[in-house]
This record gives sequence, C-alpha cells and structure tokens, in this order.
Amino acid sequence: MQINKTITIIGLGYVGLPLALLAATKFHNCRGVDISERRVREINDRTVTIDDFFAANLLRGTSLEVSTKVETSDIYVVCVPTPVNERNEPDLSPVLLALDLIKPVLKDNQLIIVESTVYPGMCEDVIAPYLSDSHKKFLLAHCPERVNPGDPHWHVGNIPRVVGGIDDDAASMAFDFYSALIDSNVKKLNSIRSAEATKVLENIFRDVNIALMNEMAQAFYRMDIDVVEVIQAASTKPFAFMPHWPGVGVGGHCIAVDPYYMIEKGRQAGFDHEFLKLARKINSNMPIYTVNLLQNALNQLGMPTQGVKVGVYGLSYKANIGDVRESPSFDVIKKLKTEKKAAVKAFDPHILSDSDVKSLDELIEWADALLVCTAHNEIVEYPIQKLAKLKLVVDGRNCLNPESIKSLGVKYKGIGRN
Ligand SMILES: NC(=O)c1ccc[n+]([C@@H]2O[C@H](COP(=O)([O-])OP(=O)(O)OC[C@H]3O[C@@H](n4cnc5c(N)ncnc54)[C@H](O)[C@@H]3O)[C@@H](O)[C@H]2O)c1
Repeated sequence: MQINKTITIIGLGYVGLPLALLAATKFHNCRGVDISERRVREINDRTVTIDDFFAANLLRGTSLEVSTKVETSDIYVVCVPTPVNERNEPDLSPVLLALDLIKPVLKDNQLIIVESTVYPGMCEDVIAPYLSDSHKKFLLAHCPERVNPGDPHWHVGNIPRVVGGIDDDAASMAFDFYSALIDSNVKKLNSIRSAEATKVLENIFRDVNIALMNEMAQAFYRMDIDVVEVIQAASTKPFAFMPHWPGVGVGGHCIAVDPYYMIEKGRQAGFDHEFLKLARKINSNMPIYTVNLLQNALNQLGMPTQGVKVGVYGLSYKANIGDVRESPSFDVIKKLKTEKKAAVKAFDPHILSDSDVKSLDELIEWADALLVCTAHNEIVEYPIQKLAKLKLVVDGRNCLNPESIKSLGVKYKGIGRN
C-alpha cells in the first residue's frame, strides 16, 4: 500500500534521518528539515556520518533533499531531542520550537506525528494546547521510536511500531502512514497516552533491569561470584528470564534520560516513583564505583592512584557507534582526573576528534592501567598479549577474558568479576 501524501520529517538525527531516508524511498514527496545548517549541508552533500548501516545504505541510493525550512505537508513527523535540564526535569523546548516551525504552514486536517520520546500525557496536555493558537483542525498522533543504533538486524524499516492518536482519525492516519512505510507490524492503540507510556515503559524496563544487575554485580563481587557466569547460567532458563548486563554506566538519549520524564510526571500526579529513582541512582553511581574499583586494585598492587597513567578506552556509551550522549566515560575521566589525580588519556576509534592518542596501540604503550568503558569490536578482538605490559586492566564492560589477562601476569577487575 502506498499513500499519496506529502511527508516532512523534522529533526534529522539518529531517529529522523533514517526515517526520512526510508520515507523518501516510499513516498514521492518526502522532505527533511533540521535547524542545524551544518547538519543540512552534510546530509545534502552526503558527507554526514551515520552509525546505522541500514540508513547508510539508503543515504547513498536516495535523492532526499533536506533544508532548514518547513513547508506545508500532509504529515509532519517530529523527531527532535527531548533532553532533561540540569535538575533532570524534561526540557520541552526543542519540541515546542519544532511546533513553532510547523504552525505557520499548518492547514486543516494535516497530521502531526510526534516520534520524540515524551512522557504520558504530553501530547494532550502540552502539544495539542500549544498548537491550538494555529486555529487549524489538526490531527495529532504519537509513534514512539525504537531505533537501536549499531544493531546489525533491527532498523527503522523492520522494527514493529505502535501508534496512538488524539482521536480515531489521527490514529488511523498514522497507522496507514507507518503501514505503508515499514515492513513490519503496526499496532493501533486505544489512546495517545498508551503510546507515550509504551516507550517510557520500554526504556524504564531496561534501566531498572540494568540497575538490578549492577547491584547484583557489586554484591557477587564481594562474595567472589562471577556475575557474568551467573547471568549466562540464568539465561539457560527458557522462560521468564531476560539477560541484562552490569557495566560502568548507562548512557544514550533514552535509558539515561526517559525515566526522569516518568519520575517528573509521577511527581506532578502526586506519585513518588521510588523504584525508578533508585534505579537511576544505582546506574548513575556506576562510574564512581568503577573508578573506586580501579583505585582499590592499584592500591593492592602497592600503587597510588595519584599520577598513575590510566588509559580510558571508549568514549561512546555503546559499542561500535560514535554516540557520546550521556556517556559514562566522561564521568569516569572527570573523577579520575579531579578526585583521584590520575594522569588520563582517552581513545575511541569512533571519536578520534576527542581522543588523546591516535590508536589503541599508542594508548596501551603509554598507560600503566587500562580502563575499558566501551566494548567496541576493536578491543574485544585486540591481541591479548599486547596487554602484557600493563599493570592492571579494569574491564567496565566485562568484554575481555579475565583468565587470559591474568595469565599474562596483569591484574584484572571486571564489574562483578574478579
Ligand atoms: N537515538 C536513539 O537511539 C533513540 C531511540 C529511540 C528514541 N529516541 C528519541 O528520539 C528523539 C530524537 O533523538 P535523536 O537520537 O534522533 O536525537 P539527535 O540529537 O540525534 O537528533 C536530533 C536532531 O534534531 C535537530 N533539532 C533539534 N531541535 C530542532 C528543532 N526544533 N527543529 C528542527 N530540528 C531540530 C538537531 O539539530 C539534530 O540534528 C528523542 O526524543 C529521543 O529520546 C532516540
């Protein structure tokens, strides 16, 4: 099924650009809009860097042209960021700014779909009232994005979607749009609030389960039980267990941010999300836990932390991509430098502009201790004997083989494994 409609995607980042590229292959009239002139130029020049393999392929083969101006369209899809401010409260300004771009060109019966992650109630309580001074009979729907950058299988074209509308017409039009766009199921929900809540629940599910594993890892470590072996063992149960992994910290624009949207929404509704707050606290403390782990291990070697050369491997929050948003690596580096007075150099093969050295070899050559913050393929596949000159390896992602490292005579610590 193809729909003969004009589509405008607003916000061309991790979420919006793959969507716009896909839409450009399915709809004759698809436009992309971003407020960043640089981003627009890089997309039009095809020099933009994309971590998403599916979108990278589309970029080469489609004729999508993007600009900084919104023109009137049958459907507008808002994919702008939804960050939190310094008090961890939702910062709605990018969404409202995107709506300001739409309002002057909005016409009756046009559909606005919000893909940005919002808290339950935001479309009805904030977005619809904000659009009302356009004096147009608009339709409003929410379809939460589920992209997983770096995933070799799941991409914008095949991930199932859920949609909710402010009324049935909006939900049906959004349902038709996504049904024509993707090669997967689209589920129409009974309310826009349910669609908003679905996304928040998905991200909170990950945050609290990772927090649980981070807590178990810290307890098991004291009992000399290997948390990785235990999680792998529990995963042999064919039902009712889903593995999540402990680590140096969670990052990215979703898991580290969205729970705060729900916490704030709960607060406004008179509900205190104790469980969510605890999960956030545990996960936010993992960088300092990891730095303390490194300090204790150095002390066991009779080395002070002050002045020791620590090579931090990985700046992105996730393996094999170059996304640094909310990455725990920066917290780790700050704490190592300011609180522990260590000498620190960082390297990330995906973020050479912010790396202090040009290669992993150079990092190892310089360092006394290596702290792995990101499980990029490069470090996982690195010849283990090259680590032999180090005194200590702290594996913040449990991605290296402890026994191989110890057999080199190098001290090893993981998150929840000795
Ligand atoms: N990155 C992910 O893995 C992911 C996954 C699921 C959901 N989300 C959600 O999707 C939304 C977008 O995230 P993202 O990762 O694509 O963000 P991003 O930072 O990669 O991209 C956002 C883009 O929007 C542009 N922009 C900002 N304000 C704008 C405005 N007012 N008008 C037009 N363009 C504007 C920016 O210049 C940028 O290019 C967020 O709400 C996020 O929570 C992200």
